[in-house]
Amino acid sequence: MEWPISASINKGLEGAIACESKVGYVDGVNGHLVYRGYDCFQLSDFSTFEETSYLLLYGKLPNNQELNDFKAKLISYRELPYEVFDALRLTTNINTHPMISLYMAVGMLGAIDEKTEDISVANQEEIAIKLIAQISSLVAVIARIRAGKKPVKPDSSLSHAANFLYMMTGKKPDAVTEKIMDIALILHADHGMNASTFTGMVANSTLTDMYSSIVAAITSLKGSLHGGANEKVLYDLEEIGGPENAEEWFKKVRETKRKVMGFGHRVYKAYDPRARVFGPLVRFMVEKRPEIKPLVDTATKLDSIIVRELAKEKKIFPNVDFYSGLIYKAMGIETAMFTPIFAASRISGWTARILEYLPKNRLFRPRAVYTGDIKLEYIPLDKRV
Ligand SMILES: CC(C)(COP(=O)(O)OP(=O)(O)OC[C@H]1O[C@@H](n2cnc3c(N)ncnc32)[C@H](O)[C@@H]1OP(=O)(O)O)[C@@H](O)C(=O)NCCC(=O)NCCS
Repeated sequence: MEWPISASINKGLEGAIACESKVGYVDGVNGHLVYRGYDCFQLSDFSTFEETSYLLLYGKLPNNQELNDFKAKLISYRELPYEVFDALRLTTNINTHPMISLYMAVGMLGAIDEKTEDISVANQEEIAIKLIAQISSLVAVIARIRAGKKPVKPDSSLSHAANFLYMMTGKKPDAVTEKIMDIALILHADHGMNASTFTGMVANSTLTDMYSSIVAAITSLKGSLHGGANEKVLYDLEEIGGPENAEEWFKKVRETKRKVMGFGHRVYKAYDPRARVFGPLVRFMVEKRPEIKPLVDTATKLDSIIVRELAKEKKIFPNVDFYSGLIYKAMGIETAMFTPIFAASRISGWTARILEYLPKNRLFRPRAVYTGDIKLEYIPLDKRV
C-alpha cells in the first residue's frame, strides 16, 4: 500500500503553474492585461470582439480577408437550432438562474450536433467558432424568455456586439452603446488560468468534447467568487441604498468579515485594468441614463472607501466585476443576465486556451495530501455503534 504523500499545499492552487500558454498574460503586480502580446487598452480602443476573438484563437491579428471570412462565419452561426428554443421554453423562467439555462442549452447544442464526438483539432475549432456566435444568441434568447418576450431573430447586417444587444433588447443600439458593449466583450474575453478557463481545460484534457468542456466552464463561471460576482455587486449597491450609507455599510461588512463583491483578486495586487476602463465608462453612461446615478455614486464612494481601507494593507482593489454590471444596468439589462454576458465573451478565451492545449494534451490530474486513517479494520454492520 502506498503511504500518504507529504508535500506543501498551495491552497486553491495559488501560484501553481498548470501549463505554458501564448494566449494571454495577466501582470498582477502592475495591473496589465495582454492578449497575444497586445495590451487590453489598445484592443478596447481599436479592436472589435470579432477581431479579438480571432486574435485569441489564431494568435495574430487578421488581415482584411481573414477578418471578413471570420465575421461571415460567425454570422452564419448566429441562428439557433429550433430544438434549443423548445428546451429553453420548457426550462427557463424568472426563477431559474440564467447560467443554468445557459449550460443546459450548450449541452443541448452538443446533443444535436452530429459532429460533437469528433474531437479532432479541426472540428473542435469549428465548434469553438460556432459557440462564440451561439452563446451570445443563447444569452439573448434566455433574456427574452425570462422577460416573457418573443425571441428576436439575428440581424446579419449588425456587428456581433450590436446584434447581441438587438437580440437581447429588441432594439438596434446606437453607435455609442454598441461600442461600449463591444469594449465589455473585448475586456472579458480572456484572463489567464482563471477558475472557469481551468475547469474547461481540465474537462477537455480528459478528451471529452468541446460542448461538454464549455458546459463545465460555464458552471464554474457562475459562482460568486468568479463571474457571478458582477450580479452580486448590484445587489450590494442596492442594499447600501446611496453613497451616504456606504461608510456605515462597509463598517458592518468588515465586522462580519463578509467579502465585498467586486473587490480583490488572486492575481491582481493592483487596480484591475478592466475596472480602469469600466469605471469611467459607467460615469459617462450616467449622462444618458440619469436613473442609474444613485447606484453609480454609491459604487464610486465604495471604491474610494475600499481603496482607502484595504489597498495598502491587503492589496485589495476593484476588479472587473465591480463596474461591469453597472454598464449593463445602464443598457437596461436585467441583473441576473450579467454573468451570462460574461460567458458570451469569455467563450473566446475558453476555446482559445482549450485549443492551444489540445495538440499537446496531457490529462490534468493533481493529488491531495491524504490526512485520513490508513489501516482501519473493517467492522461488520451489526458491530457498529
Ligand atoms: C477573488 C477572490 C476570491 C480572491 O481571493 P483569494 O486570492 O483566495 O484571497 P483570499 O480570499 O485568501 O483573501 C486574502 C485576504 O484578503 C481579504 N479579501 C479578499 N477579497 C476581499 C474582499 N472582496 N473584501 C474584503 N476582504 C477581502 C480576505 O478576507 C483575506 O483577508 P485575511 O488575510 O485577513 O484573511 C477574493 O478577493 C474575493 O472573494 N472577492 C470577492 C468576489 C469577487 O469579486 N470575485 C470576482 C473576482 S474577478
